[in-house]
Amino acid sequence: MFEDKPSRIFRDARWLQPLSLPPSGKPLCRDNDLRYMASFLSELFRTGQARNLFIFGKPGTGKTVCVQYLIGEVEKHAREKGLPILTVYVNAGRTRTPYYTMLEIVKGLGLNAPNVGWQMFRLKQAFERLLMDKSVVIAIDEVDALLAKEREPLIYYLNRQPKTTLILISNKIEDATQFPERALSTLQPKIISLNPYTKEETKEIMRDRVRHAFQPNVLPENLLDKVAKVTSEFGDIRLGFSILLSAGYSAERAGRTEITDEDIKSATKSEETTEILRTIGEMRKRLEKRRKTGREMPPKEWGLAVAQENADKTKILRYFLRLQPSRSRNVPNANPRKFAKMECATS
Ligand SMILES: Nc1ncnc2c1ncn2[C@@H]1O[C@H](COP(=O)(O)OP(=O)(O)OP(=O)(O)O)[C@@H](O)[C@H]1O
Ligand SMILES: [Mg+2]
Repeated sequence: MFEDKPSRIFRDARWLQPLSLPPSGKPLCRDNDLRYMASFLSELFRTGQARNLFIFGKPGTGKTVCVQYLIGEVEKHAREKGLPILTVYVNAGRTRTPYYTMLEIVKGLGLNAPNVGWQMFRLKQAFERLLMDKSVVIAIDEVDALLAKEREPLIYYLNRQPKTTLILISNKIEDATQFPERALSTLQPKIISLNPYTKEETKEIMRDRVRHAFQPNVLPENLLDKVAKVTSEFGDIRLGFSILLSAGYSAERAGRTEITDEDIKSATKSEETTEILRTIGEMRKRLEKRRKTGREMPPKEWGLAVAQENADKTKILRYFLRLQPSRSRNVPNANPRKFAKMECATS
């Protein structure tokens, strides 16, 4: 039932997985952004603390991969110079609560905390002891997951500690203003935006993946160009990876040694639909969260899109994408009347 012969299409399909790291270890096409971020962090090596950073950008613009690379470089440089600087990366979208975020920070810094049993104050004590002779850089990804938790203003606490530099990452610039009042006045992060990749940049990143993921000559240049175009219009580099993966499997199933235009076309259609469903799912979740917390309601047309349970989801997203001035998949200020004219709701 299962094939275990070497694939004639794939060399190593893992390079097209959504969480895969850049094959060379360094993100491509982000030299200027990385240098800019590093310029703020340089202060660490002089005084043991640098200005906090708030990195934002749309999904799939390389925020996580750039920050992980950057803190890796900080550690490397500190080791070379013999400086006591430690770094840690946590994803608050995964840890969810302030407690588990702090636990992961403490463990990530090499402290020996048990998975259960220690209360928050004990984690803080261990952290504060570490700071007596070390500096730390803490990168908190998907920081919005923590901002809703008002009872334990972890960011405020971390920000007050000496020799602690924070790098906060989010999809939304609005998050930079949602910290507890007390935190905002002292946090004063440098806000840095990662713009979506241009078509050429998208192509360069994907060409590198193609070289590692496929056997030689599996993907003709004109098809790479096509996938790069769709991907950069969509704005999330992961769409390109999943189209290539899906097209590769389709060529393999057909027993071919080359990916065809047809493989790309059908993969694009099916992967776009998956992304659309995911985006609409996220919109719905955000709408519900906002309703619950009584925060500002989203534009009416969000509601419209989300409410159209039977709507043709491809049409909805295509409509949003057409309205977008930039390459992004966030919902723009759509005109509800135009939306209604499309008769999505009944199709
Ligand atoms: N400049 C780049 N060079 C090489 N690979 C990249 C680059 N940017 C992104 N990628 C790859 O694209 C995928 C998505 O990148 P990443 O997770 O960093 O995006 P993100 O902006 O953090 O997205 P999200 O907002 O959804 O968390 C990863 O597999 C990553 O390795
Ligand atoms: Mg990320």
